[in-house]
Amino acid sequence: MSNVMKRTHMCGTLSKVNIDEKVVLNGWIQKKRNLGGLIFCDLRDKTGIVQIVFNDTIPKELFQKADKLRSEYVVGVKGIVKERQSKNTELATGEVEVFVDELVIYSEAETPPIYIKDDDDVSENLRLKYRYLDLRKIKMQKNLSFRHKITKVTREFFDSEGFTEIETPILCKPTPEGARDYLVPSRVNKGKFYALPQSPQLFKQLLMVSGTDRYYQIAKCFRDEDLRADRQPEFTQIDLEMSFVNVDDVIEVQEKFMKKLFAEVMNIEIQLPLPRYTYKEAMERFGSDKPDTRFGFELVSLNDIVKNSDFKVFTDALSAGGDVRGIKIDVAADKFSRKDIDKLQEAIKHYGAKGLIWIKINESEINSPISKFFSEEKMKEITDAFDGKPGDLILIVAGKAKIVFDSLGFLRRDIAGKLGLLDDNKYNLLWVVDFPLFEFDEETNEYSPVHHPFTSPRLEDVPLLDSEPGKVRANAYDIVLNGVELGGGSIRIHDSNLQKKMFEVLGLSDEIVQNKFGFLLEAFRYGTPPHGGIAYGLDRLVMLLAGEHSIREVMAFPKNQAAVDMVSDAPSAATEEQLEELGIKISIED
Ligand code: AMO
Repeated sequence: MSNVMKRTHMCGTLSKVNIDEKVVLNGWIQKKRNLGGLIFCDLRDKTGIVQIVFNDTIPKELFQKADKLRSEYVVGVKGIVKERQSKNTELATGEVEVFVDELVIYSEAETPPIYIKDDDDVSENLRLKYRYLDLRKIKMQKNLSFRHKITKVTREFFDSEGFTEIETPILCKPTPEGARDYLVPSRVNKGKFYALPQSPQLFKQLLMVSGTDRYYQIAKCFRDEDLRADRQPEFTQIDLEMSFVNVDDVIEVQEKFMKKLFAEVMNIEIQLPLPRYTYKEAMERFGSDKPDTRFGFELVSLNDIVKNSDFKVFTDALSAGGDVRGIKIDVAADKFSRKDIDKLQEAIKHYGAKGLIWIKINESEINSPISKFFSEEKMKEITDAFDGKPGDLILIVAGKAKIVFDSLGFLRRDIAGKLGLLDDNKYNLLWVVDFPLFEFDEETNEYSPVHHPFTSPRLEDVPLLDSEPGKVRANAYDIVLNGVELGGGSIRIHDSNLQKKMFEVLGLSDEIVQNKFGFLLEAFRYGTPPHGGIAYGLDRLVMLLAGEHSIREVMAFPKNQAAVDMVSDAPSAATEEQLEELGIKISIED
């Protein structure tokens, strides 16, 4: 027979309205204090903590049993809710306590290797190794149920808009997202491999050929790439595709989705339409294709002002076709010492910047290492371009456009962070549109797609495909939240001649194209609707809305920095038999 006590309430839900009620609770002992005649325990479940009390009016055996309780024992208790004598304002249930008259110990627990406390700052690897204990923390349980709420609203929304949720294969051919694939060897077809999908891209396009019209999926994706706070090798997309649409149609549905999501999970009314920036404008104003607009520090071009100067750093950059741009940090000149600026300069070397030029505007003078190269009037012209006022700090970078944008884009956000301007309570959602279709790799001398090879060019730019592919704009769009790329998508090419042209520009031979995407191109021959879609990074969405700074905080079992699942210790070696069955020999010695 089961000894499970039938629960009447969850721990975190008890309040004054329950006073004098007889309740049954199940949970974990958070901590125990024995004050002689009284034993207090904090009892925890996923909803919160409540204080339970054993006093000397209960039978001696029960009191002795209670005294055996230790942290993380799992128990059931029955008792009466009473108003608490010394209230705990930090606890949601802090006005009540439960006087226990029945106790069942379901299981004892060894001392856990990590504290079950939200603010415990133990190493992340230890947290990940004992993830099942880490997930006992109320904050982590809240994050998981918050994630659930977001997927629930997502399903409700896309269902109400006529989308069908369809699962696409996990064992498939390489997908075209551009990261490295995870390969799975086939036993039945020795020497051959499946790839895990980097996204459902090809299948969702096939579904449009199938007449599905509107598809969505909460889809697992796999990319063997270097890890970061917002990147995991295995992550989840809210992925969707629509037939008979243009860019505005896709964006309209997404804005409706965002409105519903923010209203229902954040209680925030967002204003539509969302701001839209072209890629060019985003780069020129914010130095980034995922601009964070919660603060200013917009980029200012000095190209016209300094083009005839004697300062070689500027003129060399301009004559090589580059740029001279800067940002102004308001009233921050005092906050940045020479050492601080040196550190910033060091940081932007990573983007290829050769140096960082600073100007401090004081009440009576302008202080800068470049003052000696410019007349007083020219220096004033430069600071006026930024609308500089006493106390302001101006930072300038010269060089190739990409280096200048990347460096200033980084500095904007880094400095805003240092000055405490990244307000977690602000949600600046925006679109970036008109991305370039291709990027040029100077090392290989080749073009590659910015998005993927099925993204359609803007119709008016098609003639440039032959002459100036670098100038062709794509029917592609990203949705950005507080400087993080939340999602991206495009209108696809449904015309096979245009698709052929695209592969030509990318320098892909017919053989490669046939081998990689032949099945999709064949499908397109049998009647393809115009179509397009988008995919959101679900983990990133949950992270930002939960106010977290890493997607690992909103995933149940994430991988660590070395792409290892610390709980089960995957990846691990295969047995000799398995390898033999697969026809695989390992040549690396460990
Ligand atoms: P894209 O490659 O831009 O587009 O991916 C869409 C979104 O997925 C999220 N994302 C990630 N999240 C966590 N870890 C990762 N390693 C990771 N990589 C990507 C990002 C990103 O914006 N098939 C296209 C979409 C389309 O065209 O419809 C695609 O996958 O939030």
